[in-house]
Amino acid sequence: RIAIIDYGSQYTRLITRRLRELGAFGLVYNSNATAAEIAGKDLKGVILSGGPNSVLEPGAPGLDPAILALGVPILGICYGQQLLARDLGGQIHRSTSREYGKAEITAVPEGSMLFAGLPHQQQVWMSHGDHVEVAPAGFTVTAKTPSVPVAAMEDPKRRLYCLQFHPEVTHSAQGTPLLLNFLKSCGMALDWNAGNFIEEKVQVIREQVGKGTVVLGLSGGVDSSVAALLLHKAIGDQLTCVFVDHGLLRKDEMKQVQAYFAPFELKVNWVDASDEFLGALAGVTDPEQKRKIIGGKFIEVFEREAGKVKADFLGQGTTYPDVIESSGIGGAILVKSHHNVGGLPERMKLKLVEPLRELFKDEVRATGLALGLPEEMNQRHPFPGPGLAVRLPGAITRERVTILQNADAIFMQELKDSGWYRKTSQAFAVLLPVQTVGIMGDERTFEWMCALRAVTSEDFMTADWARLPHELLDRIAQRIVREVKGINRVVFDITSKPPATIEYE
Ligand code: XMP
Repeated sequence: RIAIIDYGSQYTRLITRRLRELGAFGLVYNSNATAAEIAGKDLKGVILSGGPNSVLEPGAPGLDPAILALGVPILGICYGQQLLARDLGGQIHRSTSREYGKAEITAVPEGSMLFAGLPHQQQVWMSHGDHVEVAPAGFTVTAKTPSVPVAAMEDPKRRLYCLQFHPEVTHSAQGTPLLLNFLKSCGMALDWNAGNFIEEKVQVIREQVGKGTVVLGLSGGVDSSVAALLLHKAIGDQLTCVFVDHGLLRKDEMKQVQAYFAPFELKVNWVDASDEFLGALAGVTDPEQKRKIIGGKFIEVFEREAGKVKADFLGQGTTYPDVIESSGIGGAILVKSHHNVGGLPERMKLKLVEPLRELFKDEVRATGLALGLPEEMNQRHPFPGPGLAVRLPGAITRERVTILQNADAIFMQELKDSGWYRKTSQAFAVLLPVQTVGIMGDERTFEWMCALRAVTSEDFMTADWARLPHELLDRIAQRIVREVKGINRVVFDITSKPPATIEYE
């Protein structure tokens, strides 16, 4: 493991990614992490990330000196370099302006560990204010630019390596070989992949759970499905899954999930709680109110069903981005109260098992594939916890849910048949609470209006509307109006996020 100490750089997650692409496992820690927190037999090296602060400001985040005494190689990037320089007696040049963008360094690969075998002239990505003017004693300067006298430095004795630029950004032409050289000096076995992740995790889960039992809320989404399969591989029938149908799922969702999981012989309690949920939602139109009702009901139903299992542990498909987001890095504002089961473990007095905590989404998918999850299931678009409730502005009735499910099913089928499902990150139909006049045959109609939403997105924090071909949109609109009773008009949503959100409520 490489410990990555995060000083707030927008690139910290990229460092983790690059390491994993190279087969090395990295974990991010807060800037106040102590040596005791990151130490361990599996610790092979430490990376200090960049960050927006100046190391010369009072109160700037620092480095526990005991980390230097752990004896593993340390790579300081940008702020990390300045921090090491400051703490070890170098001189920092204070700057009021930031240098941002591509730059060319002149490196000295001869005798350098980091630059070994790399060219003298290299394009790099800079993003910094201050820089190191004079390297501390024991360090050799290994790269410079016309404006930055210490663009890189290293102390081979203490195995301290520093870069002013960002090797994790692809604009740094030699970024990957630089990181690889650092990993070599750490003596890392570059063997991180889905297969050995599964082997390792199975052992860890068995140790953690022992003879105990686990209950897991299976939603049919990628995360909970992969978590279920991994737990099942580790502990077999000591795992029971609970699938709650709240009546706001996609058309035939429960049947589909049942079919996907049939070959795995998991124990699953399939719970139809649709009457309970739709009853509680009757007449409610306020978006936040709807979310609260569904969230509360979900906990109630899940707790009741899980109680029947008498489990010792609660399994969850928490992934690495969830962990980072809830640790406060990035500081999100509350736009919508997300319904999740965060309060459950304390209420139910259950210990948590979260086997995917260290994985990014694409790694979760790779793990799913290696566990035999069907490709179609593995590539599913995300589906929100409150389900179709957030796609049904206005009051929710069973009839409106059915109309929406039918329109959505046509949209999904057409996207899959045309290859556009894979090219979009999320797509769905919305049933607007608006009736419009139409003409069908010789008849006047007065029916509901349907909106189609399709977006591309990296992380769902921002999204762009997908440029679906007009012919495809035409076919979908014609089919929906022809085949779905209750809809006589279809519109396509062309707003990005921001300013709109992906869901309608
Ligand atoms: P918004 O609408 O906020 O959605 O742009 C961003 C992403 O989050 C999903 N979403 C949810 N997921 N529980 C979830 O598990 C929720 O309450 C929830 N609300 C929105 C949404 O589908 C999109 O992928």
